[in-house]
Amino acid sequence: MSTPDRKKVYFLILVFLFSFFKTVVAFPESGNEVWLRYAPVEDPVTLREYQSLTRRVFIFGDSEILTSALGELNYGIKGMTGTEPATSGKLRAGNIIIGKTTDIPGNILRIPEDQLSKLTQEGYLIIRKGKRIVITGKSDAGLLYGVFRLLRLLQMGESLADLNILENPTTKLRLLNHWDNPGKLPAGIPSVERGYAGESIFKWDELPHLNRRYTDYARMLASVGINGTVINNVNTAKNGLEGWKLLTPEYLPKLKALASEFRKYGVKLYISVNFFSPVMISGINDADPANSRARKWWSDKVAEIYSEIPDFGGFLVKADSEGEPGPMKYGRSHADGANMIASALEPFGGLLIWRAFVYGNKELSPDRAAQAYQIFKPLDGNFAGNAIVQIKNGPIDFQVREPVSPLFGAMPLTNQIIELQITQEYTGHDKHVCYLVPQWKEILDFDTYAEGPGSTVAKIVDGSLFGYKYSGIAGVSNIGDEANWTGHLLAQANFYGFGRLAWNPALETEKITDEWIRLTFGNGEKVYSVVKEILLTSLKTYEDYTSPLGVGLMCNGGNTGHQGHFTPAPSSRVNYHKADKSGVGYDRTMVTGSGFTGQFFEPVRSMYESLEKCPDELLLFFHHVPYTHKLKSGKTVIKHIYDTHNEGVEQVRGYYENWKNLDGLMDEDRYQDVLNRLKDQIKYAEQWRDSINSYFLKLSR
Ligand code: GCU
Repeated sequence: MSTPDRKKVYFLILVFLFSFFKTVVAFPESGNEVWLRYAPVEDPVTLREYQSLTRRVFIFGDSEILTSALGELNYGIKGMTGTEPATSGKLRAGNIIIGKTTDIPGNILRIPEDQLSKLTQEGYLIIRKGKRIVITGKSDAGLLYGVFRLLRLLQMGESLADLNILENPTTKLRLLNHWDNPGKLPAGIPSVERGYAGESIFKWDELPHLNRRYTDYARMLASVGINGTVINNVNTAKNGLEGWKLLTPEYLPKLKALASEFRKYGVKLYISVNFFSPVMISGINDADPANSRARKWWSDKVAEIYSEIPDFGGFLVKADSEGEPGPMKYGRSHADGANMIASALEPFGGLLIWRAFVYGNKELSPDRAAQAYQIFKPLDGNFAGNAIVQIKNGPIDFQVREPVSPLFGAMPLTNQIIELQITQEYTGHDKHVCYLVPQWKEILDFDTYAEGPGSTVAKIVDGSLFGYKYSGIAGVSNIGDEANWTGHLLAQANFYGFGRLAWNPALETEKITDEWIRLTFGNGEKVYSVVKEILLTSLKTYEDYTSPLGVGLMCNGGNTGHQGHFTPAPSSRVNYHKADKSGVGYDRTMVTGSGFTGQFFEPVRSMYESLEKCPDELLLFFHHVPYTHKLKSGKTVIKHIYDTHNEGVEQVRGYYENWKNLDGLMDEDRYQDVLNRLKDQIKYAEQWRDSINSYFLKLSR
């Protein structure tokens, strides 16, 4: 037997052993590889097809990003086919050809004009030409995304026969927001605020020394198309936090090291900063935007950063919010504050992202939901061109159900980013399965009617509705230093789904879910159907046994430790759900309530205003109704509350039972870990059911 033939036989034996171990002896997996497992291809026909098409790679150009692309391709193909492709010195010999559209000669690939003109800067085209697969695009990042896409096709066992895939990201800024706390931690404060997957992955004491985990982190981001990351908490000084120190000289080499690693994967570094930095760091008398010393301080600081990190992304600021200082102290507006810092970043192409999560001002509506709009809407048109307002998806705070923030669509002249929460602060921490992609889809597909029908949130944040220069989607990260990154293995689906939706909000939930399951567990049908059923029903289930009908906050208070916002505490939240003996729900109508409904465009405004037209799932967010009020389903509100809480618990029991059927169909570690968590989830769901049902039983009698 010739050597290549022998190699093939060995590999087939290996594949056979792998499948055997996987099903019978259980192949240990920690979840550490997330969806980039590159497990050996099991089907022999598919394997042969892949092997014959991946022998040699020819790559045009040389850059850090291309080195990453090639490294990933080699690693992935070796894992799946057993053989690492050879890097070919000759273009003609390559099976896989990677290069920018301007580099690939016409005799190898003539890209039709219409395709070429469709490709945008970060997009890619993967095309089959005879015995070759060509991956092309207009930038190195586009090529890297193309490589990840090709690897995904292989992982999912897709045929490579008629490849012709052109994809562009729809959204410009696809950002991760970490709420990680650098520096010394005040007593009782975790290193990741609202983080449930271990400690922060950013090891500041060791930096600028890097470890392998930063590379894997950047790979993970790039694999789903995330192109920027804000690595520290928006709370930078509250209760003795030290995030503000990232702007001190001590931290610059550490930031530089991180940026240099992320750059290799097309990911830009951003940081959260404190508005009072000039005062806190340099003792300047005040941080007033009208103070030329403060302005100069920002300009000098930004120049210092860019001298070390030329592609630095910019700053994220939480100001005049929950104890973080801001321009209001000096009687200035949020736009004045944002513009001072934006103008320092502007010469370097940096961005200033300013959060709209502001409430608590006594002069505004007593309804917290109404306040951000009252503050920001009048400032439309006042923000600098490189400033972007980042708005949480809903007007309260990442609840399992709330309407879309009325600020979307209300500021046509102001760049906007939507902020979603991947970490499950209000949706069960690492203890409950709660797959958020269906929620995010609903939000992104929501029609604001800002410019008439079709003015969806997706079109606002992809910039197309108002022609924003900068806009995008940010997600509050759910990762930590636990081996599987997210604590609950199924929470990886939230990270994956966030990245995919940030890339293209039009992707269907089914498609994203299908990808994640197959990449994470392989292509076995039984595992697929059980995991899919759990994921796709989990949001409704969680909503059912916690807070149905949009009733909102029902959980305990917000200490940032691991118990905050987790357990049911309805009696401490009367300000939000307004339950009393006669009824429940917050009247936010214009006629009798807080008037919040008036912040929406027609016909959304009238829909929420009207008791008859308001969708059941948001009824108690907008209306105060008696317990006997009949829902569209024909049930009374109180009956609905009891029933959904009971049904929700039953659903979780079902998840647990169904998961048990997967014993032996996946590695033991991941199987057991999820099984144990589902078992605990039953207990927590029962606790919710009992607490909420007895609360309403007592009140409504
Ligand atoms: C929530 C959350 C805080 C966070 C804040 C924010 O209130 O509980 O931990 O700091 O949102 O988004 O700024």
